[in-house]
Amino acid sequence: IFNGVDTLPPDALFDIKKRYTQDTRAHKVDLGIGAYRDNNGQPWVLPSVRRAEEKVHADKGYNHEYLPITGLPALTGGAARVIFGPEYAEDRTVSVQSISGTGALHIAAKFLAKFLPERTIYVSDPTWANHKAIFQLQGLNVASYPYWDAASKSLLLDGFLDSIDLAEEGSVFLLHACAHNPTGLDPTPEQWDAVLERLAARNHLALFDSAYQGFATGDLDRDALAVRRGVRRMASVSPVIVCQSFAKNVGMYGERVGCFHIVLPDQSSEVNSRVHGAVSSQLAKLIRSEVSNPPAYGAKIVGAILADKSLTAAWHADMVTMSSRIHAMRAALREKLVALGTPGTWDHIVEQCGMFSFTGLSPEMVRRLETQHAVYLVSSGRASIAGLNEGNVDHVARAIDEVVRH
Ligand code: LMR
Repeated sequence: IFNGVDTLPPDALFDIKKRYTQDTRAHKVDLGIGAYRDNNGQPWVLPSVRRAEEKVHADKGYNHEYLPITGLPALTGGAARVIFGPEYAEDRTVSVQSISGTGALHIAAKFLAKFLPERTIYVSDPTWANHKAIFQLQGLNVASYPYWDAASKSLLLDGFLDSIDLAEEGSVFLLHACAHNPTGLDPTPEQWDAVLERLAARNHLALFDSAYQGFATGDLDRDALAVRRGVRRMASVSPVIVCQSFAKNVGMYGERVGCFHIVLPDQSSEVNSRVHGAVSSQLAKLIRSEVSNPPAYGAKIVGAILADKSLTAAWHADMVTMSSRIHAMRAALREKLVALGTPGTWDHIVEQCGMFSFTGLSPEMVRRLETQHAVYLVSSGRASIAGLNEGNVDHVARAIDEVVRH
């Protein structure tokens, strides 16, 4: 009965990782998947994570029991405080643990498919490769809003705002909280205000994907600006959904630590409490039927970091280490391309933020980078700057120079 099942192509991003791993050239460079590497090109276990691990293991009550269905309270509460800061309205916020950011988006998609199945989800053009698939798999309609102008490498603010105005009232707008993936281009605070104003005017629902908090500026609070302004602006209008990943900013990619939050609009305390209870119960049922209860290990580590002031401070310092190394590599790559006289302008590499640079290289140039120079990046021209280091940036600059000239 499965004889007619179609074979699908492999996932583009994970296939890059596979090809990179199989490549035997010693000088190969992985600028594909968004994962932080240290200056030796190695995965980095954050010192704050090592300390938290020691603390968790030293706990006399350490065990591998099930977590509650909605997750570890130390994680969900701590995560809400990190993202919402002074805007955290506990009585109106439902927070549940998720299988990292993708799992949070999946919960969002399931929840929207159940309660708002007719609403269209608008995603930026371009956006993270997995966004559309996650919502479409639940039968939701996905459309896009203009975001990136390839010619000027800048934000298409007018087109973005027009889409908000033209979308059917009550649509869902998926917004990258910071460090936009793939472009590395975020709206300014004033532009965020304009976006939020128009969303509120049309009673749209804001859905923030926060996967890179800390990577845009190195400061976890500054990187939460859009989410915090969003919950403040929408408090009288509609719920705000936040899908939060700790894969990158705690460097626990494979442990799948994340949270899904819904901030309910501010109504009377009686209504707030009733809706809070109802939404919590629905989310608990959804999670129970899908994963029963979330994975515990990473949640305990991140929960320990968020619950302890000195570990939290150590984590903030680790975040500065990661973001400043990426920043330095952006500068080094730009400088080398300028020194080589590589045709084109390269200022955007330092102007963009977060883990990625949307280089502007064509799919053919990307293909040649891989085949001729063993430099791997996404065909869209997105390069994970976290894969650069002092030992390989020269090779990457020369490789880019060669493919741009030929
Ligand atoms: C990326 O965009 O490289 C990361 O978010 C990894 C992934 O799962 O796609």
